[in-house]
Amino acid sequence: EKHGYRHYMLKEIHEQPSVISHSIEHFLKDGKLNEEALGITKLDLDKIQDINIVACGTAFIAGLLGKYFIEPLTGLPVNVDLASEFRYRNPHMLDEGRTLVIAVSQSGETADTLASLKHAKEAGCQIFSVCNVEYSSIDRISDSTLLMNAGPEIGVASTKAFTSQILCLYLWANAFAKQIGKLSPEQENQMTQELHSLPVHIDLAMNSEDKVKTIINDYYESPNFLYIGRGPSYPIALEGALKLKEISYIHAEGYASGELKHGPIALVDRHMPIVAIAPQDEYHDKSISNIEEVRAREGMVIGIGHDKDDKLQAVCNDVIPCPQVNNPAFQAILSSIPIQFLAYHIAVKRGTDVDQPRNLAKSVTVE
Ligand code: M6R
Repeated sequence: EKHGYRHYMLKEIHEQPSVISHSIEHFLKDGKLNEEALGITKLDLDKIQDINIVACGTAFIAGLLGKYFIEPLTGLPVNVDLASEFRYRNPHMLDEGRTLVIAVSQSGETADTLASLKHAKEAGCQIFSVCNVEYSSIDRISDSTLLMNAGPEIGVASTKAFTSQILCLYLWANAFAKQIGKLSPEQENQMTQELHSLPVHIDLAMNSEDKVKTIINDYYESPNFLYIGRGPSYPIALEGALKLKEISYIHAEGYASGELKHGPIALVDRHMPIVAIAPQDEYHDKSISNIEEVRAREGMVIGIGHDKDDKLQAVCNDVIPCPQVNNPAFQAILSSIPIQFLAYHIAVKRGTDVDQPRNLAKSVTVE
């Protein structure tokens, strides 16, 4: 049921504060990381020497983001592959469980992701999955599954599953780090404190919808969009572009801001909207100068960042406000909300079928 919302997608966007609150209850126990719920206890962590994430679409983008947290927390190299490539490219894998292959999949039935796992299993890897559907094919083939517990996702465009995947991968990486002595009790405490304030911030991020509705008249007819971001905001740029493409049929590309000069800036003129994901993190100054570069070519910039960020306000045509936190994983979750609303309201304005976009299926069970 849509509970009064016009579309499942809108309902699912608005469900994110409660999904995150439930996740906190589910993945913490007595205030500490719950290793069992996080799927840590069934893995032989001491053996693992490298990690390969495989997934498709939005789940792949969550995997890309995961790399930003898993590498520093565990000290292990992380490779992220599109499942449709991994299964055919003869990837480097260590036997005897020394490579851990992680599948990320909402449905647990995506054909390419499942085939990648079969391949990895034959090669002797340990298999771990982050999955929303218990007893799905991907859950069943895995040595260990972290069940996301995000509730059913009906809209073809993934929203709450994406933010839940980010949180799950991040908490899993913390639990892994703790087990191998790389996360101190103080660090765990600090992280869980930040986690407890996340639902309030996600609630605040929901306010970005009002601003989105007021600005889209200037943008919704554009045939092209660019999305840019640095660090963990780079995968969010990819996700923003994917979301817009799939439900509004507008051509959109996501780029790492540092790549602009290597090609895409040639596209920028006064007809090109650029969505810049620019929280006040360690990359902020560089992000601002990238925005200045596109403004100098008359691009129209929609910034996503803190509404009290004067530097950002000064260089953007419009700013969609997003709460600011210190933890980069939690910031990525927060930055996801405005890009979801932007895609949703542009699609509604263009009159497309938001929940069932043309040519797409919720679960891609053929390759
Ligand atoms: O069920 P999965 O997470 O394995 O699905 C993967 C992709 O098909 C899925 O994320 C797709 O990209 C979404 N429609 C994006 O919104």
